[in-house]
Amino acid sequence: MYGVTSLVLLHKLFVASRASVHLPLSVSIEDSGRLEALGAITGVHNISISNGGVFKLARPVSVRSSQEGVVSLNVLRVDYDGSLEHSSRGTDSGKVTLRVTELQTAPQFTLDTSYFDVPRNARRVTLYRDESPLNHTCVADDDGDLHLFRSQSCYIASGTHTFRDIVIDSGAELRLEGDPSGVELTKVISELVHIHPGGGL
Ligand SMILES: *[C@@H]1O[C@H](CO)[C@@H](O)[C@H](O)[C@H]1NC(C)=O
Ligand SMILES: *[C@@H]1O[C@H](CO)[C@@H](O)[C@H](O)[C@H]1NC(C)=O
Repeated sequence: MYGVTSLVLLHKLFVASRASVHLPLSVSIEDSGRLEALGAITGVHNISISNGGVFKLARPVSVRSSQEGVVSLNVLRVDYDGSLEHSSRGTDSGKVTLRVTELQTAPQFTLDTSYFDVPRNARRVTLYRDESPLNHTCVADDDGDLHLFRSQSCYIASGTHTFRDIVIDSGAELRLEGDPSGVELTKVISELVHIHPGGGL
């Protein structure tokens, strides 16, 4: 993994105790990606876990550290539907210290403090949805698609609306409004609706 700066891990990577692997600066574990580490990881500065990705670790793991049980990172991000877990294959059940500059987590995330320890000086950031009022109507792009990116939200009023594809990213929200008089339906016609984990409809 020398010479590349980022890696999207979609497969399984197991770093056994006393093994070591050098990873790119930024690693994103997604979908069916699994990183299970008991050994040493070097090189990586930022790790992001999202959309079904799993990062499992246990002592004697070390990440960018000469000390066993220490994970030293700039940013560790546990996003919507990402999972940070203790590995049952560890040699001892002592805690792993997440010595990170910043821990970014989705709102529903809770750290399993029986296995992990985060020093107090780490910055904690919650990856909120944008709570700004839903005061604008969803508008399709030139291809007829509606794609809401993280923190974007919009509403669809009553009546019939046709889109080609609808894609709602994690942390985005599409709201279907009803007719206050209860007469008219809100009908959406689309070929495909893809709602990523943490996206809302
Ligand atoms: C790590 O993430 C931070 C915050 O998003 C960013 O500023 C920095 O450039 C990233 N570093 C690498 C090596 O990707
Ligand atoms: C939505 O409402 C907020 C707060 O009232 C306002 O700042 C913003 O400009 C509005 N956005 C639109 C698209 O009207």
